[in-house]
Amino acid sequence: MGRIKIAAGNWKMHGSLAFNRTLFDAISQTASLSDGEVMIFAPTVYLDSLLNRGQELKSSVVIGAQNLSQYEQGAYTGEVSAAMLKDIGCSHVLVGHSERRSLYHESNSEVAEKFAAALKHDLVPVLCIGESLEQREAGQTLKVVFEQIDAVGELVGFDAVCNAIVAYEPVWAIGTGKTASPDQAQEVHQEIRAHLREKVGELVAGTRILYGGSVNDTNANELFAMEDIDGGLVGGAALKADSFSAICKAAG
Ligand code: PGA
Repeated sequence: MGRIKIAAGNWKMHGSLAFNRTLFDAISQTASLSDGEVMIFAPTVYLDSLLNRGQELKSSVVIGAQNLSQYEQGAYTGEVSAAMLKDIGCSHVLVGHSERRSLYHESNSEVAEKFAAALKHDLVPVLCIGESLEQREAGQTLKVVFEQIDAVGELVGFDAVCNAIVAYEPVWAIGTGKTASPDQAQEVHQEIRAHLREKVGELVAGTRILYGGSVNDTNANELFAMEDIDGGLVGGAALKADSFSAICKAAG
């Protein structure tokens, strides 16, 4: 099938100019030796300096934002638009991360609007989806993730979802040290791909579906070896050069 795997680091609200530079330089070094794609989703305020550093180093690391506004422009104090991200040279953006959904109450329809705003400005959205522990225990995992996908697909078309990147991140596994087992993750990834296949047919064969939730340097190999797992979206372990480099190698 030949899907190139992705190792994506979500730095969340961590870092400083000095810390970022050291980490980014080390990751660029690893990325230059990897056949996978390496991405970093950094705090908005640091994107510009990372993009500049990337150019200086001729780095292959893709730099993306963690969030964007669904609105074009206007009186939205504190928000950042898709056009602004594009303007500074950003190419990718996370949409609907579970922390945005739970802490900032982003609904499925807002997430869909953000996805649409990203597409309008030629940014590649990474659509994050996933169920909570209660939802999993109630047997609602697939219902929840399909609703999250369908809200976006119904607004922008399912082809657009398949041409973007999907990240399955069970909420109970994020930042908890509790990873989904490779089989547990594969099962959901396979169902997500089957669900999308019903909408778009074989286009979905090229869609990258990342796993996220306590990915680290010891479990990445096994997770990324699963047929429908095309890499990882990594939080905690992406803040250490050694562990993220090992994860990049697992993706390469
Ligand atoms: P984690 O975070 O790797 O620290 O669990 C993953 C994420 O939130 O994307």
